[in-house]
Amino acid sequence: MNNMKTIFLCLVFLTLLVGGVGYAGTYFDSAHGNSTHGVNRTSTTQYATGNCAHCHEQHASIDGAEPAPNSVSPDPGPDQVLLFSEEETVCEYCHDGNSAADNIQIQFDDKTYAHPTDDYSGVHKVSESTTADMDPGDYDPTNSLHAECVDCHNPHAAGSTVHTAETNTVTATSPLYKVSGVNPPSTAAWVTPAAASYTEKPTSTGISFEYELCYKCHSSWTGPNDPVVRDTAKEFNSANASYHSVEDTGKASAYGTYVNPWDKDSLMYCSDCHGSETSSDPAGPHGSTIAHILKGNYNRDTGKSGQSTSDHLCFDCHDYQTYKAGGTNSGGSGFAKSSGNLHTSTNHNAAVCMDCHSALPHGINRKHLIVLTTDNADYINSAKITSFTNVDDRDYVKLNCATIGIGCH
Ligand code: HEC
Ligand code: HEC
Ligand code: HEC
Ligand code: HEC
Ligand code: HEC
Ligand code: HEC
Ligand code: HEC
Repeated sequence: MNNMKTIFLCLVFLTLLVGGVGYAGTYFDSAHGNSTHGVNRTSTTQYATGNCAHCHEQHASIDGAEPAPNSVSPDPGPDQVLLFSEEETVCEYCHDGNSAADNIQIQFDDKTYAHPTDDYSGVHKVSESTTADMDPGDYDPTNSLHAECVDCHNPHAAGSTVHTAETNTVTATSPLYKVSGVNPPSTAAWVTPAAASYTEKPTSTGISFEYELCYKCHSSWTGPNDPVVRDTAKEFNSANASYHSVEDTGKASAYGTYVNPWDKDSLMYCSDCHGSETSSDPAGPHGSTIAHILKGNYNRDTGKSGQSTSDHLCFDCHDYQTYKAGGTNSGGSGFAKSSGNLHTSTNHNAAVCMDCHSALPHGINRKHLIVLTTDNADYINSAKITSFTNVDDRDYVKLNCATIGIGCH
């Protein structure tokens, strides 16, 4: 009881000192603060389930094991906020499949492609996401590269309900609730937004959409258009001629055939494509056995004839029969003429998806994610089309997709 009082006072003091977890109500509604299935470290069972002291303790007095003071700049010295351990080791203490239901640790430990959460220490600063005026330099790919669990989750607010398909919002019960992020300005198509024109959303406000979290590190807000960062805000801009519907509903024709529940008006998370290759694993872009942390393959085999690739990424949402296996007249597609679906015509069936569509399927400044041989190398993997004319009424002719010098038509 005495201990509890001390920790409580300490945390009240900490709250005043650091500016406060100014949302006690939120904490009690969060996954961690829940009094029946929230935080409960085995060595601190003298505290009620959900108590702050399962994560914050002074001088490691409870568990008995003093964590080594952090020696790395910019924050040398004991842990700034009296955590029982450092960075991801705090989270993985429980999220290892034992005390918390989801084994997140294994995604980072066992997967070849993962966010570098375990790879950097002493780079993340508590102030990064709590100050009203966020600083892109804190995430700079050259000097400050990192991605800790708390860069993507707010431990005082995270909820337990992962998003449902066809949505892009972050609600009060989301694991991403009240995490910081940035929202890009509305610009013309295919423009790199200036860093100062983004709206910053610190943890006190929190993000409204998952992409605002990702743009904190994967957009022009973080500074130079570094290939590691990738300016995904430019790629998903809804002013572009085509893009996957991460920010806004897409521009696909009404004719496509989708896997239930997807359709042309669906919205999506980045993590509908980026996540574990095993669908029963926890949601989120933690790690995958497939490059670029993808949920399924996308390569020059995707859509290849004589080989089943129905488990590749695209066919999570696009009907395999319509785009590959069903024969002419199967399903509906905007790529058609009076004789039927041109995706499955004999000659096109011999092609693979990225012969005609972007090899990086985020967005491009041309209708229907069609890629030309002259596009930037990032979007090309043996592209075949040299000029494209969009047709709205399912009446494509050969020269709408010229392949001068490549030999198709
Ligand atoms: C699941 C573990 C966990 C629990 C439970 C927890 N915290 Fe924290 N807390 C953290 C971590 C991790 C940080 C550092 C966040 C960062 O680096 O961005 C932190 C940071 C803080 C800070 C400084 C930053 C800020 O947001 O103002 C305060 C104050 C704080 N916690 C107080 C509390 C209080 C009070 C409670 C209970 C109501 C609590 N914490 C419960 C893990 C936890
Ligand atoms: C003392 C144990 C403990 C620690 C430490 C801990 N968690 Fe949790 N966490 C839980 C429990 C228990 C839940 C409730 C759901 C469950 O059983 O998986 C939870 C839920 C969550 C959720 C909501 C999603 C879900 O599966 O319910 C997120 C996100 C989360 N934790 C992230 C973190 C992060 C980030 C850290 C480190 C700052 C952290 N946790 C540290 C025990 C812990
Ligand atoms: C790069 C960002 C990022 C990092 C780093 C990250 N997460 Fe996540 N996490 C996410 C996203 C996105 C989701 C999915 C949210 C959704 O679908 O609603 C998620 C989901 C989760 C869930 C819920 C999974 C489920 O299916 O219920 C837990 C628990 C969790 N993360 C814990 C952690 C822990 C612990 C760490 C560090 C070891 C971590 N995360 C690192 C982005 C991240
Ligand atoms: C429709 C599926 C899809 C969606 C949605 C999606 N991605 Fe991707 N992303 C991919 C594929 C496929 C690749 C790999 C392309 C390749 O092999 O070059 C990729 C590659 C990447 C890369 C690495 C690119 C490189 O330079 O090598 C990053 C970073 C990335 N995505 C971030 C994001 C972010 C951030 C979002 C949301 C704002 C997002 N992705 C949404 C499918 C998707
Ligand atoms: C705090 C910064 C941070 C946030 C937030 C973040 N990432 Fe990352 N991301 C990184 C870093 C750092 C890397 C690794 C770059 C490297 O390996 O050099 C990375 C790598 C990736 C890759 C693999 C790129 C490749 O070339 O293979 C993908 C895909 C990705 N992130 C998607 C996402 C998505 C989706 C989100 C939002 C849910 C997100 N990231 C949020 C920092 C972040
Ligand atoms: C998570 C579900 C999902 C995945 C995975 C996915 N798509 Fe899509 N795709 C959609 C939805 C929904 C639309 C319609 C809304 C829109 O345009 O974004 C769409 C639209 C498209 C369009 C039409 C864009 C336009 O403006 O006409 C093309 C082309 C496309 N996808 C190709 C692909 C390819 C190639 C892959 C595999 C790399 C893929 N998709 C993976 C859901 C997905
Ligand atoms: C020979 C070139 C070509 C190939 C190969 C190709 N597509 Fe297309 N695809 C197109 C064209 C052209 C459109 C634009 C149709 C329109 O104007 O609406 C299109 C449209 C789409 C659409 C938008 C919805 C619709 O049906 O109109 C999706 C989804 C799509 N393709 C997926 C795929 C997938 C998946 C593959 C590989 C299995 C693939 N495509 C292979 C040329 C191609």
